Amino acid sequence: QGDDRIAKIASSIRVIPNFPKPGVMFQDITTLLLDPRAFRDTIDLFVERYKGQDISVVAGIEARGFIFGPPVALAIGAKFVPMRKPNKLPGEVISEEYTLEYGADVMEMHVGAVQAGERAIIMDDLIATGGTLCAAIKLLERVGVHVVECACVIELPELKGRDRLGDRPLDRTSCLE
Ligand code: PRP
Repeated sequence: QGDDRIAKIASSIRVIPNFPKPGVMFQDITTLLLDPRAFRDTIDLFVERYKGQDISVVAGIEARGFIFGPPVALAIGAKFVPMRKPNKLPGEVISEEYTLEYGADVMEMHVGAVQAGERAIIMDDLIATGGTLCAAIKLLERVGVHVVECACVIELPELKGRDRLGDRPLDRTSCLE
């Protein structure tokens, strides 16, 4: 049953060549969101995996981690913590710089959103080089949170982002090769 759902999720994702720049095959999850069955199945697969695992934090990465993270957080009874681009969060923040395919960026999280000893998953739509998830892991671990797993809808395995996560597991509903 799981495999059947994954194939349908994968086929609901649109690929747009040469966006946002020549040579990039953009994985567009907005078409997945237009298909309520595929969207539901995506959320269910994560909920089935994380329910009952004593996870109190779902950290979602701007922007598309804000789409997939909250329904999972609600279903497993965890809080949702946004990991944002710089100068968006109004309270005191801690920040982490990182490099991406298209340059450098900074990720920020509110101080006090999480407590040392909490168990977290980190959610995003896609792992490419893994730089973004790495920054999120560092932010959470700096404040003593245990990152149980990173959860993405899509993995681009040829970029070997998984290797940058150290020994933290990666789960994904759909693997594009
Ligand atoms: C994309 C994607 C991930 C990140 C993955 O975000 O949604 O967050 O890149 O890349 P990495 O594994 O190489 O770090 P994008 O940079 O397009 O930002 P956006 O979601 O704000 O549009």
